[in-house]
Amino acid sequence: MPERRKLIVVSNRGPLTYSRNDAGERVAARGGGGLVTALRSIVTQHDVTWIASAMSDEDALVSHEAAGDAIEESADDGSSYRLRFVAHDPVAYDRYYNVIANPVLWFVQHYLWGLANAPEFDHGAHAAWTDGYLTVNRAFADAVVEELERSPEAVVFFHDYHLYVAPRLVRERVPDATMSHFVHIPWVMPDYWRVLPEPVRRAVHEGILANDVVSLHTERWCRNFLRSCEDIVDAEIEFERGVVRFAGRETAVRARPISIDPDEFEEIAGSEEVRDAERDIAAERPEFLIVRVDRTDPSKNIVRGLRAYELYLEAHPEMYGRVGMLALLDPSRQDIPEYSEYLGAIQRAARTVNDRFQHPGWLPLDLRIADDFPRAIAAYKQFDVLLVNAIFDGMNLVAKEAPLVNTRDGALVLSENTGAHEELEPWVVSVNPFDVAGQAEALHVALTMAADERRGRLEAIRRHIREHDISTWIEAQLRDLDEVVGRSPTSISA
Ligand code: F6P
Repeated sequence: MPERRKLIVVSNRGPLTYSRNDAGERVAARGGGGLVTALRSIVTQHDVTWIASAMSDEDALVSHEAAGDAIEESADDGSSYRLRFVAHDPVAYDRYYNVIANPVLWFVQHYLWGLANAPEFDHGAHAAWTDGYLTVNRAFADAVVEELERSPEAVVFFHDYHLYVAPRLVRERVPDATMSHFVHIPWVMPDYWRVLPEPVRRAVHEGILANDVVSLHTERWCRNFLRSCEDIVDAEIEFERGVVRFAGRETAVRARPISIDPDEFEEIAGSEEVRDAERDIAAERPEFLIVRVDRTDPSKNIVRGLRAYELYLEAHPEMYGRVGMLALLDPSRQDIPEYSEYLGAIQRAARTVNDRFQHPGWLPLDLRIADDFPRAIAAYKQFDVLLVNAIFDGMNLVAKEAPLVNTRDGALVLSENTGAHEELEPWVVSVNPFDVAGQAEALHVALTMAADERRGRLEAIRRHIREHDISTWIEAQLRDLDEVVGRSPTSISA
């Protein structure tokens, strides 16, 4: 068992969110998304205070009742942790989340613009930066500083693109704080950052460089990060050692691929809810089932994936009635026009596939737009081919979760631009996310792969995931911090 440490985890979305049920009682639901799923086990292993945005009115009320302080919560296994909601001004939060973090930073970091027509960084975007992104980051920094006053020995663990500026604000007030930042999404080449106005891209880089350690999922994202620090803020870089020198400080840059908790995942896969959903899928499934599970995010490349399936069907009439695709898509960030338009495009592409190929008794594509976690896990168990064709993706946890619980020796078709590809490449059918003809061919290769070949590859993926699980990820980051700040683990533990 690793030694218990005091950690202040800081992320926009928290491990749970509160609401009221029909009887008017306060109930908690698990927070969604890969970051939260991956980090959940951290609270069972360390003494954690988790700082997150109040996402619902009820979260804000919880925060208000605690006078802004943390409350005691307990994880599924009974371990307790402190949860501190930051209740933001709703307008500032809307600008931060719906104008800057997702349609700007997310779009930059997944190369989602063609640049001929978008983006336009207009007055609204400038105002959203100043009175939204910076405001919310200041509120997070205030909460971190207060928690550090309470536990000066704690290590601060920032997460993701929502919080690039906060580390610098904390560093200004607590110069000797020990801070690390994990970026869960890709880091792009320096020129693409130049889409953003100079003060904005500078603030992003200066903010994150206030950390002692910055980690990303892959060597590829780390190289881009080092290059962009050199280019955007003129930092001095040691590429070999992964070190950035800037403003009189050093930041270590490390590739630390995130993973999952295999035991927890297998337990969920065996739960009653998942088994019920699996019975439904098994009753309706065709002989060969292709599965995809994604948020409806433009970076996930769902429309091209459907087009590839259409091309596959065009080329393989012998499979009519025998093959089907189940696309389980969680509607995401629908207050952002780019996202709601993308959902429309997905629905149109799905319609085209079914209009072209369906016949009585056979639905080639079953598209479900819903946040249905048990059904997603059930589909993981049932796939013959899993399609993950993201344009760019920091890691993509579906590519790790699904093979772990699959019961059919399924094959994985994986985009070469996902972080997971850096680890799983030897055992997957690799695809270029823009090459729809190549993806159609990859579906054919995966569907016709020999059984022992599929089994061998799936077993290798599982071994890799078990040997590189979520605890290894967390411990590696704590070791990075120890090395960088030159303290022994014991001197900074509680
Ligand atoms: O990796 C990026 C991330 O923060 C993941 O945690 C998660 O899958 C997704 O984005 C969640 O997005 P949101 O919190 O906007 O729903």
